[in-house]
Amino acid sequence: MPLVDLDRFDFLYANRVKGMKSAATRDLMATLSRPGIISLAGGFPDTRAFGEEAFREISRNIASDAAQALQYGPTAGLEAIKDVIVEVMGAEGTPARQEDVFVTTGAQQGLDLIAKVFLDEGDAVLCEGPTYAGALNAFAAYRPRIAHAPMDRAGIIPVAARETLKKARKGGLHVKFLYTVPNFQNPAGVTMVAERRRELLEMAREFDLVIVEDNPYGMLRFEGEPLPSLAALEQEEGDVDRVVYLGTFSKIFAPGVRLGWVHAQPGILHKINVGKQGADLCSSNLSQMMISSYFQNADWRAYVMRLTSMYKERRDAMLDALAEFMPKEVYWTHPEGGLFVWATLPSYLDATAMLPRAIARNVAYVPGEGFYGGAPGTGKNNMRLNFSFVEPERIRRGIELLSEVIRERMELRSDLERGSHRREGAIHGGRSVGFNSGTEG
Ligand SMILES: Cc1ncc(COP(=O)(O)O)c(C=O)c1O
Repeated sequence: MPLVDLDRFDFLYANRVKGMKSAATRDLMATLSRPGIISLAGGFPDTRAFGEEAFREISRNIASDAAQALQYGPTAGLEAIKDVIVEVMGAEGTPARQEDVFVTTGAQQGLDLIAKVFLDEGDAVLCEGPTYAGALNAFAAYRPRIAHAPMDRAGIIPVAARETLKKARKGGLHVKFLYTVPNFQNPAGVTMVAERRRELLEMAREFDLVIVEDNPYGMLRFEGEPLPSLAALEQEEGDVDRVVYLGTFSKIFAPGVRLGWVHAQPGILHKINVGKQGADLCSSNLSQMMISSYFQNADWRAYVMRLTSMYKERRDAMLDALAEFMPKEVYWTHPEGGLFVWATLPSYLDATAMLPRAIARNVAYVPGEGFYGGAPGTGKNNMRLNFSFVEPERIRRGIELLSEVIRERMELRSDLERGSHRREGAIHGGRSVGFNSGTEG
């Protein structure tokens, strides 16, 4: 059916649909699975590392409980998986109690449910700039205003966050929560230092906001010392109150099971429970039982370590290739863990417009614009580069190809400036995003 036919129901769609847009990475997926493309675009963990035998063993282990695995379950999740979640959070240094844990269909559902229970149309959310595009998508359905506070190599800048909150308050906006990905942030790869975590907590108290701490990558640390979660810091001060912590099995086990969790105080969890009943009744028992079987019977820490050392090798390959091939005008972050590097091109380059040229040369990335919910054009000269899914040699080749595309664009611009070239295609001026991150160019 031609796409245009879909529009004939425009008059029936809810207003919220206007604010909703598809994530660039989701849209790119079909193109990126084309053979030959070196995709530095997706946010895929390397599930090939898990292996057929381990998968078979889990399936065998839960087969005797087939009736339960195939049944509906409690909305908040099965007891066994909550025990596993308590163990995982403990392993990362955040004490947790079973009753404060609520199972979700991925952390992504956690984001949707949080927005569902906190946001009325016109409320505001304070996010890092840039921020996780999937969170912006989840929030968008509830039609909030998005404010960004910039980051540097130490994470969100507290003075800027405070200024934004003050301005919002003055302008009559109700900021309901602050959303942060404190470890190896998606997309920027930066980690918030401990001092700023404390400052953020203090700020949340002062402005009486909730903090949504989204931590899918914390356990994927390659170097440096682990830092306390905001949830742990709050508990140190004797509270489980305003930090709503999101965790997931996607990056320490596999995203295909679609299982995550929310850790929060009972009042908030109750609202989330009601929200989830309307969304999907409960998360899959089958997934919960697979995960609890694996985490109880296998050495899951060893598996996470295996993933981490594989990703470290790939991160190193990416950083080395960037240093070797990129023009000196390009900058990038140095992630101590996680899956992503964030690159900043000269401000006159447009990473969105450049993408088809990169794909034609068999390399892909995610343009930076989609990681900002506010002013159009912000993030135009940025790109997110993923290193977790592609082998080191291909990462190297991918960066080499990408640097050729960037160089060509830069040369074209120089030629145009010198007036020695006829105009061959538009170069859109990109706006610098004031993202002053750790760069090794
Ligand atoms: C910061 C962040 N939050 C949440 C998610 C969603 O994770 P899940 O697979 O648990 O839904 C992702 C996925 O990449 C992410 O990067």
